[in-house]
Amino acid sequence: MRMRPKKHREERISAVEERFAVFDDENRLLPGETFGDGFQKMYYEFGCGKGAFCCALAQREPDAAVIAVERVRDVLLMAMEKAAAADIPNLRFANFDLEHVTEIMPEHSADAIFLNFSDPWPRKRHAKRRLTAPAFLERYKLLLKDGGRIYFKTDNAGLFEYSLETFAQCGYKVSNVCRDLHADEVLSANNIETEYEKNFSAKGFKINYLEASL
Ligand SMILES: C[S@@+](CC[C@H](N)C(=O)[O-])C[C@H]1O[C@@H](n2cnc3c(N)ncnc32)[C@H](O)[C@@H]1O
Repeated sequence: MRMRPKKHREERISAVEERFAVFDDENRLLPGETFGDGFQKMYYEFGCGKGAFCCALAQREPDAAVIAVERVRDVLLMAMEKAAAADIPNLRFANFDLEHVTEIMPEHSADAIFLNFSDPWPRKRHAKRRLTAPAFLERYKLLLKDGGRIYFKTDNAGLFEYSLETFAQCGYKVSNVCRDLHADEVLSANNIETEYEKNFSAKGFKINYLEASL
């Protein structure tokens, strides 16, 4: 996501800094300090962009604790400002590259991981950067609770076919595979549209969707 650098970025981040998740001195997430002890379910959104999805998800599921991760600070700022404006208590943010996710998020902590419109990185030599590349799928295995699930959607047919292969290759069971999410009455009933999704479906792109579990 390319954008102009945000003016007064660090001041603006300071104004919403209580929206950050809490980490210990070694940069490990502290879920209890972040959310208190009242939450049974934990959801992660990886690559949250400007935050429409995580805000709507947290508002729809007030009993779940939601952490949205984004590596681009200016983009994260927009998501955090959105969450602050709506004052969403069960949503917090983290700013890091998901390459490091297993060093930061606790093992077997996630009931669900959402990967929405992950960057496709179409060149083969960049395939390792895709958030559904085998190295990332192996990391998510360590994060998922027993029975946890990954929800993946993308407009990009190439990335989708690649991901069907990598999920299978890494031993995930894939279900609810759909190549036109918005046309599927059952699957789209609970769908929350992301910024990219609105944009691409308005341009006539079909949305591919799958769920994966171990
Ligand atoms: C194409 S955008 C989609 C944004 C949003 N999920 C949506 O659907 O509107 C992908 C986002 O993932 C973030 N991202 C990509 N790779 C990442 C990584 N390794 N770690 C953290 N964020 C990443 C990018 O910075 C970008 O904001």
